[in-house]
Amino acid sequence: MEFSITALSPETAKAGCVVVGVYGGNAAGKELTPSAWHIDQAARGALRKALADLQEKTGSTLLLRGLPGVAAERVLLVSLGARKEFGAAQFRDAVRGAATALRDLGTRDAALFLVDAKVASHPLAWNVRHAVLGVRDALYRFDHMKSEKKKAAPSLERVILPLSAKPPLAQALAEAGAVADGMALAKTLGNLPPNICTPTYLADQAKKLARQYKLGVEVLERADMQKLGMGALLAVTGGSHQPPKLIVVRYHGAAKSVRPIALVGKGITFDTGGISLKPAGEMDEMKFDMSGAGSVLGAIRALAGMKAPVNVVGVIPTCENMPGGQATRPGDIVTTLSGKTVEILNTDAEGRLILCDALEYAGRFNPEVVVDIATLTGACVIALGHVATGLFANDQKLADEIRAAGEDAFDRVWQLPLWEEYQEQLRSNFADFANIGGRPGGAITAASFLARFTRKYRWAHLDIAGTAWKSGREKGSTGRPVPLLVRFALRHAGRK
Ligand code: BES
Ligand code: MN
Ligand code: ZN
Repeated sequence: MEFSITALSPETAKAGCVVVGVYGGNAAGKELTPSAWHIDQAARGALRKALADLQEKTGSTLLLRGLPGVAAERVLLVSLGARKEFGAAQFRDAVRGAATALRDLGTRDAALFLVDAKVASHPLAWNVRHAVLGVRDALYRFDHMKSEKKKAAPSLERVILPLSAKPPLAQALAEAGAVADGMALAKTLGNLPPNICTPTYLADQAKKLARQYKLGVEVLERADMQKLGMGALLAVTGGSHQPPKLIVVRYHGAAKSVRPIALVGKGITFDTGGISLKPAGEMDEMKFDMSGAGSVLGAIRALAGMKAPVNVVGVIPTCENMPGGQATRPGDIVTTLSGKTVEILNTDAEGRLILCDALEYAGRFNPEVVVDIATLTGACVIALGHVATGLFANDQKLADEIRAAGEDAFDRVWQLPLWEEYQEQLRSNFADFANIGGRPGGAITAASFLARFTRKYRWAHLDIAGTAWKSGREKGSTGRPVPLLVRFALRHAGRK
């Protein structure tokens, strides 16, 4: 899909469909945006007459055809909701509503006049980014595994954002296109079934990405892990017949002397719980337990795709967590790459085990900061639901940067504490500490476990257990937190 920025007027635009916004109910009824007003003037009030049929809910649409005095055959009205409540969420809902309607219409090209609506104090570049991401997100399809692909219905190919072209807008357009590509990669890796998206598959995808974008790539095999002493990662993969991998992907967009941002992503391609076996219900969703890994590859694809002036190293520990005769037992004690010993009291707390070795390994790249991304705990879903990603950090300035990037990307996080008091819950009678801390504060004790391996650098941990995928009818990967990671990396490098 192609997006472009061209100044147009709504009544003369020659597009398959012209999309304009209408603010919803106040005492005086609905309120036309300037572009809707222009169409109404040209059509001698025909738009206003149709308004009663447009529902109030933000993102609701109404299609009008053949309006007199209007060049486009079709005009799509989109409800923006009440003007005084209009903000980032409403803008995204309106864009999504419009995109879905355009897809169902089968229009090949459209002019999205919605894009100029003022959203809080955001500059127009923000609107451009979110319009592109909203449309691409709404039109994403995953039919790789269906024997009959959806009939090749004419699909939306060109979207015009009717604004006067300025350099910051062109940059926003390029950024958003690359982020959408990165999100699509993360979503597809997440959605693929666990018999296809194995650790070997992820390593192959990383190599493919490296060829496409000229990245550095290196894959450590089991023998390498044994030589290095990654006892925790090796313990998790014990029960699996799939070989484990530790993938390292490097993107250089800044000077050699600039220390990299390290992104470390949990890549459990299926989490059965191991010997501490999970209950059967919804266990299929544990194919999404590699979403952290997917988001690292997605973010790197995005940054490389837009040639961002940053250095990033992605570190992805990936394996399966399976029961079996070679599986780790509750009570086993392993020695991690850091030299610290861990008593594995629950084999289902495996994410922190593969991450502790990967975090230690990431330190070897002399990173400026390290951010890990993991579907780490069910407790984080209980704490924050499916709206906010859990944020933890050992450096408040880094936490603040990530929080701000999340707001900017509308891919939001909420910080939880990492106080010393929580460490007490991890004590073990037999090893340096245990891998679980009991039910109270489960997301925090998991982060506290990781904190023991990240004392040498500035570090943040994102628990995406509630935000990486959706369940139920809409089951599927969300591509989060790729937008957040990219915004963070760009802002960190000084870009607005
Ligand atoms: N991958 C899961 C976390 C998870 C569970 C994410 C459900 C999303 C939905 C993780 O490996 C896990 O099993 N965590 C355990 C930890 C517990 C044993 C301390 C959990 O959250 O129950
Ligand atoms: Mn688990
Ligand atoms: Zn897991």
